[in-house]
Amino acid sequence: MINEQIISNIPDAYRIDEPIPTEEPMRQDFFISLCQNYIRANREKGKILTYAIVTFGCQMNVYDSERLKGVLERIGYQEAPEKEADLVIFNTCTVRENANQRLYGHLGQLKPLKKANPDFMIGICGCMMQQPEIVEKIQKSYSFVDILFGTFNLHRLPELIYLRLFEEKHAIEVLPAPKEHVEIKGAKRKYPFKSGVNIMYGCNNFCTYCIVPYVRGRERSRIPEDILRNVKELAEDGVKEIMLLGQNVNSYGVNFYTDEESRILQDNPEYGFPELLEDVCRIPGIDRVRFMTSHPKDLSMKLVEVIAGNPKICRHIHLPVQSGSSRLLKAMNRHYTKEDYLGLVDRIREILPDISLTTDIMIGFPGETEEDIQDTIDVIRYAGYDQAFTFIYSPRTGTPAAAMEQTDPGLVNQRFQRVLDVVNEVAHRRSGRFEGAVDEVLVEEENAQLKSYLTGRLGNNILVHFPGDPSLIGSLVKVRLTEAKGFYYIGEQI
Ligand code: 5AD
Ligand code: SF4
Repeated sequence: MINEQIISNIPDAYRIDEPIPTEEPMRQDFFISLCQNYIRANREKGKILTYAIVTFGCQMNVYDSERLKGVLERIGYQEAPEKEADLVIFNTCTVRENANQRLYGHLGQLKPLKKANPDFMIGICGCMMQQPEIVEKIQKSYSFVDILFGTFNLHRLPELIYLRLFEEKHAIEVLPAPKEHVEIKGAKRKYPFKSGVNIMYGCNNFCTYCIVPYVRGRERSRIPEDILRNVKELAEDGVKEIMLLGQNVNSYGVNFYTDEESRILQDNPEYGFPELLEDVCRIPGIDRVRFMTSHPKDLSMKLVEVIAGNPKICRHIHLPVQSGSSRLLKAMNRHYTKEDYLGLVDRIREILPDISLTTDIMIGFPGETEEDIQDTIDVIRYAGYDQAFTFIYSPRTGTPAAAMEQTDPGLVNQRFQRVLDVVNEVAHRRSGRFEGAVDEVLVEEENAQLKSYLTGRLGNNILVHFPGDPSLIGSLVKVRLTEAKGFYYIGEQI
């Protein structure tokens, strides 16, 4: 944090003669104004300053990046490709080691640009930055990085840019989990008609392989009033589809930011994720609601019934299984067995026969045997996933599994390929099952390959291409799925 004295370093031309607000978001609005002056002065000199954000990892990061883009555009930066931008920000992921390596690859490529252009700035934020040893490594080996911040202070980007521009060589700020959440308004959405909305942050599950609880902190739900106000504002801004985001949405409402917030809800202790979903669906203008991610141990039948009773909720549940082996699931601290999971799949399919189930699967967890892989293959076949994301286990420093005896990498690669083959076979078999049916498509864009075709998505996320007028982009259209083409459909508007 800076004080009023430091601000005297700013050139007179950019100065704002007001005290720096101490409260957020007014404080960042102040720094946005200062940075706007800087951008304007450059423009007057004929230099348009540009930015690029490179996003790694999950939907949460995608949505965080949309908000950072909104902030940078308010400041006056214009979006440009990574190789041409004056400010490049990497929003990082650290769930697996290869995501870390990709960041280092990008940094290595940008280093010469930094030498050639002293005005060029590099920022890094996101999950990787919440690990002290990584921040240390960046400061040592990539000391040309200008701005570095974590997952808890995204909203402070304007102040950090200001600090880097006028006060310090590097603006580095990584904070512990906050007591309250500061919203960032005005995201620049890739599609104006759909948006993510965070309903909770962090995770309390401590699966033994996973770094997320360490870098995203303890689970904190946002109060329903804030979420619903957000969704209303988005609907007024033209958003039709909402994706409710959380590491474990089914435990929504268990923990709030403060005792005060928990007390507010004490008069309605039954209010949980199913109730929130219904409230979101009631907001005028919202046509479709999705959510991600569900932990199998917490997914309730009440939720399944709410989905069944509400046509606005997409018929899609992402239900990460990780492994089909009860023994490995125990070692992973997942709190369910193979039988629990398959029983849950049965109960879901009983009520929602059309549901698309997708999952995450991890191969190579410490101590994995042939028998464990066979259990995983059983589950894939039984559950009939429409799509499964398969990952090779990656040891994460500080997690319990990293200290366990690791499985031979050669064996892991071979098992990974076998599991992938089964995943593809099952997904392929499932993919054509809606051929001939009529369903709603949210139209996203004109098709790049097929002339006069549009491309959109079904509720279960599958792509559909159909002939249509570009004026339909952003609306829900009834389409007959005339031909299944593997992982997409060709359709016709009806
Ligand atoms: N190694 C490999 N995959 C992991 N995931 C989480 N942690 C690891 C890890 N250490 C996978 C899980 C999770 C998904 C988001 O990433 O499958 O569901
Ligand atoms: Fe990681 Fe498990 Fe939390 Fe998912 S539920 S974020 S895998 S600790």
